[in-house]
Amino acid sequence: MSHGENMSATPDSAWAARTLLDWYDQSRRELPWRAAPGESSDAYAVWLSEIMLQQTTVKVVGPYFTAFLKRWPRVEDLAEAELEHVLQAWAGLGYYARARNLHACARAVADVYSGRFPETEKELLTLPGVGSYTAAAIAAIAFDNPAAVMDGNVERVLARVYAVEAPLPGAKPELRAMLETLAPGERPGDFAQAMMDLGATICTPRSPSCARCPWKSRCAGFASGLASVLPYKTPKKAKPTRHGFAYFIQRSDGAILLRKRPAKGLLGGMTEVPGSEWREGEMVMSDGPIDATWERVPGIVRHTFTHFHLELSVYLAHTEEGSCTGKDVALERYMWVPRRELDAQALPSVMRKVVAHALDYTTR
Ligand code: ADE
Repeated sequence: MSHGENMSATPDSAWAARTLLDWYDQSRRELPWRAAPGESSDAYAVWLSEIMLQQTTVKVVGPYFTAFLKRWPRVEDLAEAELEHVLQAWAGLGYYARARNLHACARAVADVYSGRFPETEKELLTLPGVGSYTAAAIAAIAFDNPAAVMDGNVERVLARVYAVEAPLPGAKPELRAMLETLAPGERPGDFAQAMMDLGATICTPRSPSCARCPWKSRCAGFASGLASVLPYKTPKKAKPTRHGFAYFIQRSDGAILLRKRPAKGLLGGMTEVPGSEWREGEMVMSDGPIDATWERVPGIVRHTFTHFHLELSVYLAHTEEGSCTGKDVALERYMWVPRRELDAQALPSVMRKVVAHALDYTTR
């Protein structure tokens, strides 16, 4: 072969770091939580963005991140915030346990560490909601500690560069070992983010842009023609579908009946449109929470959670002020919320869909 760089099928660490960091210096994405080139990132901003980015896209996170930092500029401010306000600000990002942990973590950093995030993966791992990925990401990006930061993007890049044909998730330890050999001692934070950017912008899941890739000349996946199909995945078990009913009750003054979910469990402590249990199989509509005449809103509201799909049928009822009776409604966890205040409620995404579906029908 004529050029030296094509001699070896896979990159060695020094070459990989140099070519990737050069590419990053030219092509990195401008993201709201990123420090300017050469400047170190604020640990609070790194932590906040990483928690928000778990299972949510960069595009969705941007405005939430900016709003959180504006409202709570320091970790101490977030620690002092009411949990309810944090959950409201989080609404729409999903996985509310993360918002609770976010608040608990802010308190731990404020109280135990005097407002300064610890710098090592080991200490970071002791914080609420901080798992091995997030601990590594904060250590690397905020403190430039050499830590192997492996998310889905990084796994894909590695599986391709080394043409790893063993399927995920079983191949993770092998990929991690490869990342550890590849990661440089210098600029570990930039290296970690460069890997993520490469995965997000060039080494994309379906049609990677290999022609523009800084690692093309030593990518075993490119050489073997497997780049666009790797990584292989062990098929997941199909998610079951649960069914349920949601009861959208509008009072004559326009207020809507909502209630708070129990503190523990799925969507713990969030606000919801009252409804039935969610179960697999056939469900028969039972009594709603008030005595009323029910009208079915045509269509189904669908939402997918981590472990199941949900299909909700929405029923409508109208009631007069003061005339609302029913077995449950007097209980503390119910509340009448004026329509214009619905947006400010800690309504999870599935319940926003229910509200939109019902309002779309009533205002038609
Ligand atoms: N995804 C998760 N964390 C990220 C980061 N710091 N930069 C880009 N994409 C990311």
